[in-house]
Amino acid sequence: RQEAMSKKPLAGKKVVVTAGGTLERIDPVRFISNDSSGKMGFAVARAAQQLGAEVTIIAGSTQVQPPSGIKITSVESASEMFEAVNALWEATDILVKAAAVADYRPKERAMHKMKKSGDTMTLELVKNIDILETLGRNKTSQFLIGFAAETNELETYAMDKLRRKNCDLLVANDVTMEGAGFSSDTNVVNIYDTNGLAVSLPKLSKEEVGLRIMELVAERTVGLSR
Ligand code: CTP
Ligand code: CA
Repeated sequence: RQEAMSKKPLAGKKVVVTAGGTLERIDPVRFISNDSSGKMGFAVARAAQQLGAEVTIIAGSTQVQPPSGIKITSVESASEMFEAVNALWEATDILVKAAAVADYRPKERAMHKMKKSGDTMTLELVKNIDILETLGRNKTSQFLIGFAAETNELETYAMDKLRRKNCDLLVANDVTMEGAGFSSDTNVVNIYDTNGLAVSLPKLSKEEVGLRIMELVAERTVGLSR
């Protein structure tokens, strides 16, 4: 009870936050990536630190300055992100998967810059490991928070991901909504748990959304020990 009342409810908790987008190399000068800015993940990391947690960020490609004073490991690809998160997994209390992980990577990565030839070219892609799903399957006492950006059927897709990836919470946003999405400084999210919709937040700054998420996580993890 006392811990719940304190301003540092996450004191002693090890929180890992993945942020940004992964980058999948085609050749030494080309890659496939996405528009993730890293803002949401960084905001969650700052909030977790503010609430007393010991935070590590695993960052892919980002467009903004990472928070100062928080441990950060930079990665490129989904495979590298998996390695980094997996290395910390056993000691992790709370994992927040805010990163936009590429679903596929080029099957071959050319050693040298590719030359153009015909009028069309086909790039064969192979599926990346699903980091969250893989770790969700190996969950012991970790509390898992997934993210989802959708353009339609928010609740259906959110609940499907929450269950499929064995998440405790899933933060979903409809990226077609004004004030939501990748490069925006604000976000509009619904937070789901295994029973369905847990919290529906209005349009807020990503900093504020980060704090609301981590406050909810604190409420739900305080008293749980490893
Ligand atoms: N995720 C992950 N590894 C992947 C893909 C996604 O860990 N290879 C995580 C994301 O970090 C996010 C959650 O899973 O927390 C949902 O990502 P999303 O792309 O929405 O889910 P997918 O299962 O890839 O489904 P979709 O077909 O909608 O892309
Ligand atoms: Ca995906």
